[in-house]
Amino acid sequence: MNINRWYAVLSAEEIKYKKPLLKRRFGEEILFFRQKDKTIVALDNKCPHRGASLAHGELTEQNEIACPFHAIRFNQEGKATAIPANGLSAEVPKNMCVKSWPVQEAHGFIWLWYGEALEHYPPVPWFENLPDTMPYRESTHLWNCHYTRCIENQLDFAHVPIVHKKTIGRGNKTVIDMPMLEKNERGFLTKTDFHQDTGQVVDHKKHPAHDFSRFHLEFVWPNIWQNYLYNKARAVLAFSPIDEHHTLIYMRYYHEIPLFGSIVRHFGLQFSQKILQEDHDVVMTQRPDKSDYHMGEILLPQESPIILYRKGREEQQLY
Ligand code: FES
Ligand SMILES: [Fe+2]
Repeated sequence: MNINRWYAVLSAEEIKYKKPLLKRRFGEEILFFRQKDKTIVALDNKCPHRGASLAHGELTEQNEIACPFHAIRFNQEGKATAIPANGLSAEVPKNMCVKSWPVQEAHGFIWLWYGEALEHYPPVPWFENLPDTMPYRESTHLWNCHYTRCIENQLDFAHVPIVHKKTIGRGNKTVIDMPMLEKNERGFLTKTDFHQDTGQVVDHKKHPAHDFSRFHLEFVWPNIWQNYLYNKARAVLAFSPIDEHHTLIYMRYYHEIPLFGSIVRHFGLQFSQKILQEDHDVVMTQRPDKSDYHMGEILLPQESPIILYRKGREEQQLY
């Protein structure tokens, strides 16, 4: 079984009409382009004829990409439609084709279906409580590790008072309750409380109740996460897998506020970048740079969100 999922792979703004865009995702060189009707195409960049890069070719009026070497044209399904050397009217052999991936645009991201071809695809995953109308500011961050390590870092509570002791983890509250976890069909919500160490011992059997209508974290399979700050403000991360050792993180700071919104979003994003940099510096030291459910790390009971993530990733055979 390998059904798999829609993965957020690019920011929609990156793909402009008539400008083929070459990106490495899932360890493959993928050529993206936008057609006249605004739909997006994703093709394997390597020409099946003699291996030239289709990204260096030209987009035709018919929304096809013509290879820069011998101008064989490929349509949105990756099928060759014409081989100039044979005469444009000549029939094209069926095996002259490149792999294509289903792609779609939603919520300001480009989503690529990485998995089995299906007759009907499910809708792209998204946070139920984050409306597309909420304005945001976005930045990108390249991390030299597998996307699993990036995601887990955002589900890791125990690092907050340590790694972020001068920012969001101020106050030396190093003792952590068992987190509350609430699964839904998209992913899960989680939250915990932090306390100063006054000699108490955490009871790992006790799961204090938390209120998810306020500050909490949400993870949505397979690669998006939000920090729900309050109704009108969120930090969102999309972890786009470049290959086994690289991830491009798309970070957004959403804030809806009547006055000075763009300034608030500017500083909100700047602060989020500072936090992410603190995370980056320690995650880069983790070995191996990819995580798995069965990998021999000795996790703490409070790391139940990470365990849930690892288990779910294995069950769903995600990238
Ligand atoms: S290598 Fe692409 S058409 Fe020849
Ligand atoms: Fe962090």
